[in-house]
Amino acid sequence: MKILVLNGPNLNMLGIREPSLYGSQTYENLCKLIEEHCDDKNIDIEIYQSNHEGCLVDKIQQSYKTIDGIVINPAAYTHTSVALLDALKAVSIPAVEVHISDVSKREDFRQISFVRYYCEKTIAGKGFDGYIEAIDYLVDKYGVEQ
Ligand code: DQA
Repeated sequence: MKILVLNGPNLNMLGIREPSLYGSQTYENLCKLIEEHCDDKNIDIEIYQSNHEGCLVDKIQQSYKTIDGIVINPAAYTHTSVALLDALKAVSIPAVEVHISDVSKREDFRQISFVRYYCEKTIAGKGFDGYIEAIDYLVDKYGVEQ
């Protein structure tokens, strides 16, 4: 089973951006946490971050027939992007939405999530551990043949 972890805009600024909301750990720390977990559990993983909506759409499209599960933190595109929702629907790969912060307790404009219309599950407010929970969920549910 191969999992793709997708991160949207400004998540490359983790550790610098709003540490009271997102913590002091960097994006590199996040990648290392995910890679070590996947190494331990023998999960094939790819991690991708982009600040550009079209690049994220391209990456989802390229996942067709090559990726078995997607963990996606679309960041600000969560609240604006029908294109990301449509890309997920197009490839029809099981997906989990992750947010580092608890978006449900933040501004009104963060209460809408377009990808949520497709994703099986949303994990928010658990920091970096939310990514691990999402990966494990997908592996437990879809990784039986490995
Ligand atoms: C975020 C929440 C979004 O509202 C915000 O735009 C982000 C990060 C999170 O991980 O908590 O960039 O997706």
